Parts: sequence; C-alpha cells; structure tokens
Amino acid sequence: MCGIIGVVVSNKSTRYSPGSMIFRGLLRLEYRGYDSAGVASICGDKLIVLKGKGRIIDLEKKLGFSKICGSVVIGHTRWATHGAPSDINAHPHTDCRNWFAVVHNGIIQNYLDLKKTLINKGHVFKSDTDTEVIPHLVEDYYGVLRNVYRSFKQAVRVLKGSYALLLISVHEPEKIFFAKKDSPLIIGLGNGFNVLASDIPAILEYTRRIITVRDGWIGYVSGNDVYIEDLDGNIVDWRRYVRIIDWSISDAVKAGYPHYMLKEIHEQPRALKDTFYGISRDENIVRVVDMILDAEKVFVTGAGTSFHASYYFALVTNVLAGVMVYPFIASEFESYTSAVGEGDLLIVVSQSGETMDALKALRAFKERGARIVAVSNVVDSAIPRESDIAVYTRAGPEIGVAATKTFTTQTLVLAWIAVFLAKSCGCIGDDEAREYMDLLGDSAKIVSETISVTEYAAKKLSEWLYRVKSAYYLSRWIGVPVAMEGALKLKEIAYIHAESYPAGESKHGPIALVEEDFPVIFIVPSNREVEKLLLGNIKEMKARGAVIIGVVPEDSGLVDEMDYVFSIPRTHWLITPITHTPPQQLLAYYTAVRKGLDPDKPRNLAKTVTVE
Ligand code: F6R
Repeated sequence: MCGIIGVVVSNKSTRYSPGSMIFRGLLRLEYRGYDSAGVASICGDKLIVLKGKGRIIDLEKKLGFSKICGSVVIGHTRWATHGAPSDINAHPHTDCRNWFAVVHNGIIQNYLDLKKTLINKGHVFKSDTDTEVIPHLVEDYYGVLRNVYRSFKQAVRVLKGSYALLLISVHEPEKIFFAKKDSPLIIGLGNGFNVLASDIPAILEYTRRIITVRDGWIGYVSGNDVYIEDLDGNIVDWRRYVRIIDWSISDAVKAGYPHYMLKEIHEQPRALKDTFYGISRDENIVRVVDMILDAEKVFVTGAGTSFHASYYFALVTNVLAGVMVYPFIASEFESYTSAVGEGDLLIVVSQSGETMDALKALRAFKERGARIVAVSNVVDSAIPRESDIAVYTRAGPEIGVAATKTFTTQTLVLAWIAVFLAKSCGCIGDDEAREYMDLLGDSAKIVSETISVTEYAAKKLSEWLYRVKSAYYLSRWIGVPVAMEGALKLKEIAYIHAESYPAGESKHGPIALVEEDFPVIFIVPSNREVEKLLLGNIKEMKARGAVIIGVVPEDSGLVDEMDYVFSIPRTHWLITPITHTPPQQLLAYYTAVRKGLDPDKPRNLAKTVTVE
C-alpha cells in the first residue's frame, strides 16, 4: 500500500515547479505509507532518480526532491509489502538501461514468474520488489515495438494483481503513462499541467477538476492533453467523467492543530452535520431499506473500526426493527460464504472504500448471488463502484491513520438506515421515528458539547494512563462495539495493550489479570437497565484494586463509583457511538502525545489497507 503522484507541465508559468508539486503532494499522501519515498524525472535526455528509506521530510533535506529538474516528474511514498523498507526497494524502479521509471501502488501477483523469465533474458534486478518487473518488461517490449505506449500496454497486459502505476521514459519525455486495476488513481486537470495521484488531497492545492480513473483504463497525460483507453481498447471520452471537488484545501491540511487526529476529532460536529444533511436527502436510503426487507439473510461487514460500526448496526436493527443482521470481520468472509446465496444481502462498511479484505468479501458474496450495499466515505472508490448501491458519509478526507470522524459518521448513517427500516416494517410508529431522526439531527450539537466537556479530563487522565502497560474496556449491549473502538484507539495510537469484551465475561476468565492499579474503562450507555447491570461489574473490578474510569451520563448514579470520570450529557442509547467515542479518542490521542508518539502515523500501520 503506497501513494503515487505524477506531474507533467507544458506551461512554465505554473505557480510551483513540478518538483515542488510532487514534494508537497507526497507529504499529503504520506498517510498511505511512510517507510521510504522517491521521485524520478526526465532531465534533458536523462532519467534522474532520487530515493531512499525514511520519512519524506528527511529525504527532502537529504536528497532535495523539490529541486529535481525537468517538467515530467513522478513520486512515491511506500508501505512495504514485497521487500523490506530500504533505499534499494524504495520506488521509483527502473530498467537495465535507465530508459523507464515506474511508481506503483498494489501487488503484482505473478512477479516471480515474470522476474524469472526476464532474468533468463539477461535483465538485471536491483531490488526485492514486485514492482521492478514492470520497467524491465516495458524495456523488453520496447526492444521489439520501439514505441513507449504500445510497449507499456503490452507489459500491463501480462500483469496479474492490483496496480495503479505511472511510467515515464526518456523516449517520450513529455508524457506520463498510467494504468489502473484495483488500486485508486485520479487525474487532476490543470491549466498548462496535469497531475495524477492516489488521492484527492495530493492535488487539491493545484486543481479541483478531477477524473477518477476506472479499473482497466490505460493511457497517458501530457501538460495539455489526456488520452485514455478502456479494457477493450476503446477510446474513453474522459470529458464525461470530469467532476469538480468541493472540499476546501483547509479540509485537507492541519488547520492549526498539532496533529491531523486532533483536528479530525474536533471536526466531528461538522462531519456529522454534513453527513446528516446528505443522508436526509439521499433517495438511496429507501432503496437500501427495501433491499434489507426483501433479503432472506442480511450480513454486515468491515475491518477494524468499520467492523465496530458494522457490529453496532447489527445490534440496532435487532432492537429497533427485529431484523437479524449477521456481523462479521471482513477478513473472515470465507467462514460465511457457504451460507450465502441469491436473495441474501451484504452491507460493506469501509471509509476508504478500498480495503482489500472488505473488497474480497464483497466479491465473494456477489459471486454467490448476494446483492451488495456499500457505506463509504470516498465517492467512486472501489467498494461503492462494485456494489449495487452506495450510501456515503460526508466526513471529508481523513488523514490521521486512526479512524475518528469516519467512525461516528458511519454510525450516524447506519442508525438512520435502522430507523427507516424499523419504520418501514411497522416496528416503530411515525412519531417515534421522527424522534429518532431529530435525535440524529441533533448529534452534531451533542458531540460538540461532549468534546468540550471531556477534553480537559482526557488530557489530565493521560498524565497517569501513559505509564500503564494494559487496560480493559468494558460495556454491555450497544456499548460493546463502542468499547471495542476505544480499546483499538489506545492500542494503535498509544501502543498500550487494550482489550475489550462484554462486561459479563469478566468472571469467565479475564478478571484474573486485574490487580492493584489496573485500569478498567467502562462505557456506560444512556440506559437505566444497562447502568444497573454494569454496577455489579464495576464493583467486582473495584474489589480487586482496579482503577475505574468511566464514560458516563452526567446524572447516572455510576458517576460516584468512578476514580476518573468523563461525564457526558444524557441522551439516548441509540447514539452511544457518537456520544461515547470522542472522549475515548481524546484519551488515546493525549496518551500518545504524552508518550512522545506521533498519533498521526502509528508504527506498522497505514491508512488504507489495500493488501490482504
Ligand atoms: C483504525 C482504523 C482501521 C480501519 C480499517 C478499515 O483506527 O482506521 O482499523 O478502520 O483498516 O478501513 P476502511 O474503513 O477504510 O475499510
């Protein structure tokens, strides 16, 4: 999983040099991977490559990416899949004669076979990557065809796997050649220049006119023109696909916050408001509800945070509509496919819309005849495109690796669907449905209040929590997926072992670990019955010396049981993910910062997981 970018300029009057456009774009793509980076350009009649292991900002100081000469430049930021992070394995990769340079996001599955054949033909490989076969293949075909585009097309034809790739060549120094299958790629159209990139934030500073490249498309861009062919070799009338991005550049930068994660936590009121606005006008909601009602079995899936949102959906549909929805973790899809057939429905939740585990689950269910609904934050991404119907959160770009605003907005969309479902099947009346809709409409205001009343407490508690090695996150019923989300945040951002399970399970084993000063965080939903049940669980932890921390409605009797409390407005259990998650996000954030960690770029993780 990686970020790629290319810039080709025909008009020297652009505000930035191509090198500096690439450098700035790479910084915006760093969330996709950050173990090594590189750039290549055609300078005069020579191919120049600058690359190395490390963060982009350090490599810029060492190698001067932004100063690279030439008007055709490509760049890459890497998250290792084949070959360890190293100078040699960093992209761009080149052929034996230094005629071609390639940057690639994805995995070439048949690279070992291709590499063997190419080595037998005399090609010499420098890296351990799958990507390096591509420039050698193009070089090989060029020896016969003597035409860059035809050689590139021929090479792409033999690749198996996923790719968004860019190629430049000394033989046609005014073009960037591209191809795409299963990895994201967009083209940004400028005035006297064109840009290609994995994602919108990388190009937003330069243009708002974009084309989302479809699977199977192949072509090239120059400073003034775009040429695209589809899978069958037909010329694509790309002007039909141009859209204008309405995100502002400040949506994609830190806007004064020290980290994207904090900015994105604070953006939740805005994100929820926009999402509410979007779904309350989205005609697809009615279609999705009809699909659920028509389905024999309904499944919901996602990975990581998106699984927590999926699990929440299954609980809500059960309670409000009496509809059984089976939640499962996307990477486990094979355990469920034999129960799937025509008439079934799969709801795939994925903020990026590109997560490979979720995409594979989607394809496996589709193959067995199931219909597919996507819930995503990225319009036109792979999962929505391959689904029968899509509904979108409107959280805007999320740059911090940890999901924050995309989780709360996912649960807003899913709650909205559940309410409509309950209304359509006659499980709730019009008045009750209206009350829930108003509640969801108010969630932006409620979350704003929650953030302002809990941020200081999170900061204070982090002063103690940063020293601990392990913690439990407990709840019951609707609070369980929310507690799971809290534990995941602490784990991935602050590197503290955190485990979450339904509180009733303690006595079946986990309580054995609890001793003096062991932190146990209770998520207490706004529901008197659950509060009563949780009291017993709190007492049993207290009796063993645990430090009790709680996210608790302000008027609950449980407030007095807490050693540390995040006291939040009492609302309704339906919006527990929206009311109870932000304090947990803040706690993980401040704990990571207290430990001197970078919450935006946790180790071993990348934002969009386009590998299995
Ligand atoms: C956690 C996190 C990941 C993602 C997961 C799925 O903070 O961000 O667990 O939720 O990789 O990603 P999407 O939602 O893009 O499919």
